[in-house]
Formats: sequence, structure tokens, C-alpha cells
Amino acid sequence: MSEMKGMLREDALKDRVIIVTGGGTGLGRSMANYFLELGASVVITSRKLDVLTATARTMEEETGGKVLPLACDVRRYVEVERMVAEAIAHFGKVDGLLNNAAGNFISPTERLSSKAFEVIIDIVLMGSVNCTLALGKHWIDKAERDKAILNIVTTYAWTGSGYVVPSACAKAGVLAMTRSLAVEWAKYGIRSNAIAPGPFPTKGAWERLLPGEMMERFDLSKRVPLGRMGEHQELADLAAYLISSYSGYVNGEVVTIDGGEWLKGAGQFNMLDQVEPGMWDAIEAMVRNVKGS
Ligand code: HXC
Ligand code: NAP
Repeated sequence: MSEMKGMLREDALKDRVIIVTGGGTGLGRSMANYFLELGASVVITSRKLDVLTATARTMEEETGGKVLPLACDVRRYVEVERMVAEAIAHFGKVDGLLNNAAGNFISPTERLSSKAFEVIIDIVLMGSVNCTLALGKHWIDKAERDKAILNIVTTYAWTGSGYVVPSACAKAGVLAMTRSLAVEWAKYGIRSNAIAPGPFPTKGAWERLLPGEMMERFDLSKRVPLGRMGEHQELADLAAYLISSYSGYVNGEVVTIDGGEWLKGAGQFNMLDQVEPGMWDAIEAMVRNVKGS
């Protein structure tokens, strides 16, 4: 976690109960921690109860908030239903769902088994579907309103990306679900939004996406126009806003927070960044000298 201070007022999430999948580690942990600082109670879930329990204890000590750690494999709908039921039994209600749990690794696609492809689709797409479905059914059945779903995707959900094709397919599906339910479930008072983060250093992502010397060889910060990785607090600020009622009129949006990374790759002439400033007079003269077609 960085030392950067949070943006929102202290009670911005007061009395809200938020489920954060994958909340025991990485970005999920950082976002959950900030929700607590803003007055929310938080349920953190993942497969590893020991990790969750240790994280919950630290978070409670640091923030004074209430954290319920619950083991749940988001691939299994029965486990998700049980997790949601336990969360409601404990806190009396749930107001927000942060679908953050994910699985990913780099690989040439032709090296993947069908099972390897499936495991990523299961965690990322079906995991987000399962949590959304279980909570959505509950909210609609109980006619509870002012609820928020926030899905963590990536910018390659719409650009696609080689070497992480299962993840790209799954995140694209999550983005489609975000936009679809934003419309379908608005009548029930349920908003759906997404965040597409650029590179934010975490152990889970870095060790699977740029293992060993690859981290130095492919310095991700060089791909970012702002020249740096994201700070966890920057993401947490955005997530807290989108999961709070202050964003009550934001629905069906995907907010990119990547320092301009994906646009740099997309803009055809962005490589001209590499031209030394002193060269521009000569280049301009050459261009001005062009006559005819
Ligand atoms: C090829 C692989 C593989 C690899 C696993 N498999 N790793 N194939 N290359 N590196 C294959 C296995 O051989 C098996 O197929 C199948 O995938 C399932 O593997 P398991 O190990 O049995 O799965 P499981 O124990 O469920 O673990 C899931 C996992 C693991 C995804 C493989 O890495 C995990 O638990 N990840 C959770 C955390 C995570 O990934 N965090 C990073 C998120 S980062 P066969 O056919 O052999 O049975 C992220 C960033 C996005 O999303 C953008 C960044 C900029
Ligand atoms: P991370 O620490 O590895 O987070 C992934 C979390 O998902 C872990 O806590 C993991 O816990 C949980 N998880 C995995 N499989 C699960 C399952 N079957 N059931 C329940 N939980 C499961 O990595 P991260 O970088 O913080 O990633 C968080 C989110 O940000 C992901 O959605 C990722 O795609 C997204 N993202 C990250 C970056 C980045 O630069 N870091 C960029 C873009 C998007 P267990 O292993 O204990 O289950």
C-alpha cells in the first residue's frame, strides 16, 4: 500500500456492507481496506481462509472496521450462495459487490489445454456471473434498492491481447455483463459499473504475467504515457466512488485508470514520442517542402 491519502470523506461508505471477492490479497485487499476506512463493513472472500483470516485481522486493527473473512471458490455456485447467505446472516444485508477475483497466466494460446482455458473462464467470467447472480436474485427478491455492482476488468477486454487470451475472453464477457445488467437491473435499483486498471504492481499478477527476468526486460511503466505504474490508492479512490451512492447516476460505465497506456498502443503515430525534440525543425522543413501528390 502506498502512503498516498484517500480522496473521499470519511463517512462516504458509512453503514454500507460490501463483498470483495479476492479481497485477501493485492488490489482487492487495497480496495477493501479503503472501503473500511470510509466506514463500510466488508466481507472478503477467496479460496484460502488462512490468508483471508490474517488479512481480516490486520485490516480490523488498521481501520477499526468490521471484516468477515469467508472461504468461497467463486467457480462453484453453491459455495457462492452459501457465502452470500453467511454475509447477510452476519451483517443483516449487503449493499455492494466488488467482483475482483481473477486467475491469469501468460502462455502462447496453442500451448494451452482446454482445461487451462476453462479454468480462467471459470474464475473470471463464471465467478463474476455467480456472485452477481446470487446477490442480484436476493436483492430483487427482497425488493432492496440502492445496490452497486463493480467489476474489475482490463483494457484488453476491448482491445484483446495475445498470450492472455483466456483472460481477454473472460474479461470481455464481464464487460458485456456489466453493460447488459446496467440496463436490465436499473429498474430494481441495482447499478453495474466496471473499472479497467492498467498496471498496478501486485504479487499475484506480477509473478504470473512477468515472471523472473521478464519484469526488467518488459518494463510495463515504459508503456504508460505518464511513465509510471498505478498507486493502489488511486484505484481504491475510484472503486470507493463507484461503489458508493455518490455515483448514483453512473451506470453501465467502464472507467479506465491506466495512465493512458492502452491509447498509447492504439494511436497510429504515437511512436513519434521517440523522435528527439531537436529533430522537429528538420522534419517540418521536409514536410513543408513536399510539392504535389
Ligand atoms: C499453461 C497452465 C499454466 C501455465 C496452469 N495451467 N498454469 N497451462 N501455462 N502457466 C493449466 C494446468 O496444467 C491445468 O490444465 C489447468 O491450467 C488448471 O491448472 P490448476 O493449477 O489445476 O488450476 P488452479 O489450481 O485452479 O489454479 C488456477 C490458476 C492459478 C489460474 C492456474 O494461477 C491461480 O490460482 N491464480 C489465482 C490468482 C491469479 O491468477 N492472479 C493474477 C490475476 S492478474 P491441465 O490440462 O494440465 O489439467 C490479472 C491481471 C490482468 O488478471 C491484467 C494485467 C495488466
Ligand atoms: P491477485 O492478488 O492474484 O488477486 C486475485 C485474487 O483472486 C486472489 O485473492 C485470489 O485468492 C482470488 N481468487 C482466484 N481464484 C479464485 C477463486 N476460484 N475463487 C475465489 N477467489 C479466487 O491479483 P491482483 O493483481 O490483485 O488482481 C485483482 C484484480 O485486478 C483481478 O481482477 C485482475 O484481473 C485485475 N487487474 C489487475 C491488474 C494489475 O496490474 N495488477 C491490471 C488489470 C486488472 P485465492 O488464490 O486465495 O483464491
